[in-house]
Amino acid sequence: MNIKKLMVRALLLAEKGRGRVSPNPMVGAVIYNNGGIISEGYHEYFGGSHAEINAIKRAKKSVKGARMVLNLEPCVHQGKTPPCVPEIVKAGIKEVTIGMKDPNPLVKGRGIKYLTSRGIKVKTGVLGKECRFLNRAFVSSFERKRPWVVLKEGLSLDGKIASKTGNSKWITNEKSRIFAHLLRYGSDVVMAGAQTLRIDKPSLKPYLLNKKPHPLGFPARCVLTHSGRIGGCAQSVDNSEALIIATDNKNAAKKYLSTTGKASVICFKSINNLLEQLCIKGYNSVLLEGGGKLAGSFFDADLIDEVYFIFAPVVIGGERAVSAVAGEGCRFVKEAVSFKKWEVLDADGNFIFHGLRN
Ligand SMILES: NC(=O)c1ccc[n+]([C@@H]2O[C@H](COP(=O)([O-])OP(=O)(O)OC[C@H]3O[C@@H](n4cnc5c(N)ncnc54)[C@H](OP(=O)(O)O)[C@@H]3O)[C@@H](O)[C@H]2O)c1
Repeated sequence: MNIKKLMVRALLLAEKGRGRVSPNPMVGAVIYNNGGIISEGYHEYFGGSHAEINAIKRAKKSVKGARMVLNLEPCVHQGKTPPCVPEIVKAGIKEVTIGMKDPNPLVKGRGIKYLTSRGIKVKTGVLGKECRFLNRAFVSSFERKRPWVVLKEGLSLDGKIASKTGNSKWITNEKSRIFAHLLRYGSDVVMAGAQTLRIDKPSLKPYLLNKKPHPLGFPARCVLTHSGRIGGCAQSVDNSEALIIATDNKNAAKKYLSTTGKASVICFKSINNLLEQLCIKGYNSVLLEGGGKLAGSFFDADLIDEVYFIFAPVVIGGERAVSAVAGEGCRFVKEAVSFKKWEVLDADGNFIFHGLRN
């Protein structure tokens, strides 16, 4: 059987766990023999069985002597569930193909060693780049000790995200907004600047999608403020969900630490430090939902990994309209932050530019 096709199948299975498994990785498993695929499984929700175990348990016939394909190295440590490698050995799998090593220091090659030391043939690196891309947020949390940062903005052709009165509903069309909710669904944190909260009072939750909620209540909502003026906004959004108030102002932090119920407070020294603190709390990805000042803060610190600029074919105009990216910006065009195009999607006449930072 074509090993790359089997790995693509494992990646598609893994993808089904998006929005349900973080801070764990998305993993898919395919068991096959010369006759074809025997069984499949994926990591379905945080705290649930791992992909390997699901595939072994769901097999309708014996998997003894069969081969397994995984997008990520199997685990060797006890977490929410027991380690996977002894189960692979017990099931009699004779060969395992792995897309990428697990960057978690508790695993990092030990899963492969465990299997080879027990006579199981291990192949690595099949579609390694694609496997890392799928779990880029998980990888970022271990290799960079910070979450993967995605910016999403709906904007006019002239780069405005709101008119001079602060009105932004709606620049983009319904299909784009559903797409935006899909991005929320797959994120660990959805973040907005305080001005967006004051004006729009967004829920920051993926309510347009009828999908199963994450066991840990992800995505968490986060508001960035210096002044600490979020007052009624914290109440105006659904109170049953936790809100993270992130501020670089010690007095504001003190005030909220003593008065908030469900909210938690992060006092940060820099945007980098804010991301480090979110990573320590177990958040692997952050979706920035604007506005322009929030986006500017992250651009100035060069901490945006991926963008979704959703263009509507309209011009808002006006020098007092809100620009997609504020902050300091660059002095010369040659210093502009560049993104490589990943894809451009057509959403019923809106155009979604999806780009990656180098
Ligand atoms: N079309 C879209 O996709 C979209 C998305 C979101 C928002 N919007 C629109 O954008 C407008 C708001 O954008 P905006 O640029 O004026 O404001 P914003 O980015 O939403 O919020 C700015 C505020 O966020 C806080 N903040 C930002 N960076 C910070 C940092 N590094 N440290 C501490 N606090 C920080 C500050 O809060 P304090 O003032 O409390 O100190 C700052 O004044 C609204 O009209 C909204 O409708 C459009």
